Amino acid sequence: MCRFASGFLKGSRVALVLACCVLAACGGEGAAGTGGEIQVTEFNAPVVQPAGHYGYGSDASDAEIAGWDIDIRPDGLGLPPGGGSVEDGELLYEDQCAICHGSFGEGVGRYPVIAGGQGTLTESRPEKTVGSFWPYASTLWDYIHRAMPFAEPESLSDDEVYAISAYVLYLNDLVDYDFELNQDNLASIEMPNKDGFFVDDRPDVNNELCMINCKDPAAIEITSEPAPSEAPDPQVQSAAVAGKSPGESIYQQACALCHASGVGDAPILGERDAWAERIAAGRDLMIASSIDGKGVMPPKGGQLQLSDEDIIAAVDYMIEQLAN
Ligand code: HEC
Ligand code: HEC
Repeated sequence: MCRFASGFLKGSRVALVLACCVLAACGGEGAAGTGGEIQVTEFNAPVVQPAGHYGYGSDASDAEIAGWDIDIRPDGLGLPPGGGSVEDGELLYEDQCAICHGSFGEGVGRYPVIAGGQGTLTESRPEKTVGSFWPYASTLWDYIHRAMPFAEPESLSDDEVYAISAYVLYLNDLVDYDFELNQDNLASIEMPNKDGFFVDDRPDVNNELCMINCKDPAAIEITSEPAPSEAPDPQVQSAAVAGKSPGESIYQQACALCHASGVGDAPILGERDAWAERIAAGRDLMIASSIDGKGVMPPKGGQLQLSDEDIIAAVDYMIEQLAN
């Protein structure tokens, strides 16, 4: 313990023994029996290499840096020489990956799905997989190489990583069965979602730095309360301007999220069968469940700033849609 600390402090050559004896492990040495006085001891720290920055440690050797520098760039920079076929990958995958990710990449239990899902990203339940989501094939190689199989990261040879990556690409219909992946062709593989990423363009992530006329920090309040309901919601306003009834505007703003498509089995707007029983139970009950929440539906559809009148207008609008 103390010896280790001395290695850390080489450069000064002098260590306060007490500092490391706080850890009971080296209680027998140094401080014991000194009545708690700080004892300064001098010893020779083994000098392995010249001291690095700040007088600590040593400069990292090329071999040490190479051990950490394993990232692969989208253009293929960093890939080691080698290659592997889909066919070889199939066997390795079955052996080392299928137990968690499934023979077809469908995911076993709650382990990640790594194939399929293409075209689902804009749906309400997007399935993000290697094929549907990842922009670059290089990430696949890098990820498998550094992190998989889950229990034995970095246990695969480079050629095995090429072969398994090829097979995962094959499972995603991105290469044919006779394909062989290598350091020269990996960067040329086009992933379906490569153009799906962009720099966040929402206004609040690009705020200008404030140098003059800034807000008084004391006046800024961080709150989890919904905005007060007096000020009409701009969305509601603009919808009203567009000629919609208040009920329809509220519906669009607060209810359509679920009732347009049936999220969480919400009865879909205008679908009579879905509403028959509820209509039979009566408007009052429907209003009460909308205000108080029911099953998956949160109170007021989650928009607590809405008044009861707003909700009633929306419910009436929803009922009207069944009449046509
Ligand atoms: C013991 C179960 C297990 C095994 C075996 C396993 N994985 Fe995984 N894999 C996981 C888990 C858990 C994650 C999620 C890790 C995380 O998010 O930190 C994961 C993540 C992944 C991902 C990223 C998924 C994503 O979309 O984020 C890929 C790709 C992957 N594994 C490939 C493989 C390959 C190839 C093998 C075989 C060489 C393999 N895995 C073996 C459990 C496993
Ligand atoms: C997060 C999804 C979600 C939102 C948002 C939502 N609902 Fe619902 N709604 C549901 C679900 C799910 C049900 C079916 C609940 C059940 O029967 O267990 C439902 C049921 C209803 C019913 C029938 C209630 C009954 O007693 O049978 C009405 C009326 C209704 N919603 C009105 C609204 C109105 C008005 C809004 C907007 C202010 C709204 N909902 C917003 C999910 C939602």
